[in-house]
Amino acid sequence: MLGLTRARNQSRNGRSLHVAGMDFADPKRKANVVGKIVVAAGLIAFCLIMIKQFPTFNSPSQFSRREMGVTHVLVTGGAGFIGSHAALRLLKDSYRVTIVDNLSRGNLDAVKILQQMFPEPGRLQFVYADLGDANAVNKLFSENAFDAVMHFAAVAYVGESTLDPLRYLDNKKTAEETEQQF
Ligand SMILES: NC(=O)c1ccc[n+]([C@@H]2O[C@H](COP(=O)([O-])OP(=O)(O)OC[C@H]3O[C@@H](n4cnc5c(N)ncnc54)[C@H](O)[C@@H]3O)[C@@H](O)[C@H]2O)c1
Repeated sequence: MLGLTRARNQSRNGRSLHVAGMDFADPKRKANVVGKIVVAAGLIAFCLIMIKQFPTFNSPSQFSRREMGVTHVLVTGGAGFIGSHAALRLLKDSYRVTIVDNLSRGNLDAVKILQQMFPEPGRLQFVYADLGDANAVNKLFSENAFDAVMHFAAVAYVGESTLDPLRYLDNKKTAEETEQQF
């Protein structure tokens, strides 16, 4: 008796009906859920179409194509002391700059300040990559059209270099391989 009353109340509230341990979902509720899913799918499809219509969505980035009168310089180690100052000088002189750095040293905030100073599209991009990673370097060069490379990526502490010379040799080798890419 008590069980049946509860079942009736649940049915009125739009919940599932329990009879003898079986669970029957309310068809109205089911239709509601299906309706919501269809609306959500429609909205997602609409957003995707709108995004694809956006002019820059399919077009290659400005960094990947050469432009008359624009010189694109790759600054390796551009989050570091010398690299960030070189990038600033280049940007002030209207160069297009790509900074690549693995942030093992240096300071990402320096890059962020440069990005705030030169927010226009096609001026400055930052690529987080290790120059010792051949795939990353290949991708960097295949996706960008560089006119010049200024190479400052380095581990550059005299004391440390005497304690861990192999690390310094490795990074130097990496640098030479990067230069060969160009
Ligand atoms: N600081 C000076 O006074 C000075 C003077 C003369 C020459 N230099 C030379 O300039 C170069 C840069 O020196 P710095 O003082 O700017 O050093 P730094 O440590 O401030 O900057 C080096 C940058 O290179 C990055 N880096 C290191 N290895 C990398 C790798 N494998 N891939 C990607 N990024 C990597 C680091 O994260 C760092 O941001 C060095 O070759 C140094 O010998 C420096």
